[in-house]
Amino acid sequence: MKNILAPSILSADFKVLGEQVKTCAENGAEYLHFDVMDGMFVSNISFGIPVLASIKGAADIVMDVHLMIEEPIRYVEAFHKAGADILNVHYEACEDVQATLDAIHKCGMKAGLTIKPATPVEVLKPYLDQAELFLIMSVEPGKGGQSFIPESLDKIRELRGLLNEKGLTADVEVDGGIHLGNAKEVLESGANVLVAGSAVFKDNIAENVKGFMEILNEN
Ligand code: DX5
Ligand code: ZN
Repeated sequence: MKNILAPSILSADFKVLGEQVKTCAENGAEYLHFDVMDGMFVSNISFGIPVLASIKGAADIVMDVHLMIEEPIRYVEAFHKAGADILNVHYEACEDVQATLDAIHKCGMKAGLTIKPATPVEVLKPYLDQAELFLIMSVEPGKGGQSFIPESLDKIRELRGLLNEKGLTADVEVDGGIHLGNAKEVLESGANVLVAGSAVFKDNIAENVKGFMEILNEN
């Protein structure tokens, strides 16, 4: 399975967002992680549909949209039209998870199902063959720059084990507190997509992305 870097633009400099996205793509990042917050599912508000539509053309990169919003089914079509390629919804935010995944697929997008740190991997069991990606939050969703919760490693192992048992090859993405120092053990636990916000968009973005790509390509 391919290892992929998904820089989270939550930590980007929005004055020069297009340039920074281009730098990420040119240095090997294949997904761009786009964090949408509604002030309800999480207390912060970030950015949404018009920003996605506007950066869609900035680089050749897969738009990996992480919806931290209540009842995301309401906005599936709108995010599709704005350019989302993968749409991640929170298990905790959906009244009907299956209907939400179906709506995402109906638009032709890949579906991602996401769980918060306190939600057990077990809840994903009915959906293992219903999504192309599973996102394990390794911090409480809502803001960047927090510390990785070490118990997340066990959740990643458990999820990859369940997928393997069924012969499924979905992406296992991990989001929150990932940096060059812990990336290797996150991959070794069974993840293959790493989200990184503050660790990519501080100091030299090109060097940071290259550092991650070295680890991703070695493992
Ligand atoms: C948190 C977001 C993350 C965040 C990660 O709610 O889902 O994507 O940007 O930021 P870092 O990598 O700084 O923990
Ligand atoms: Zn995220």
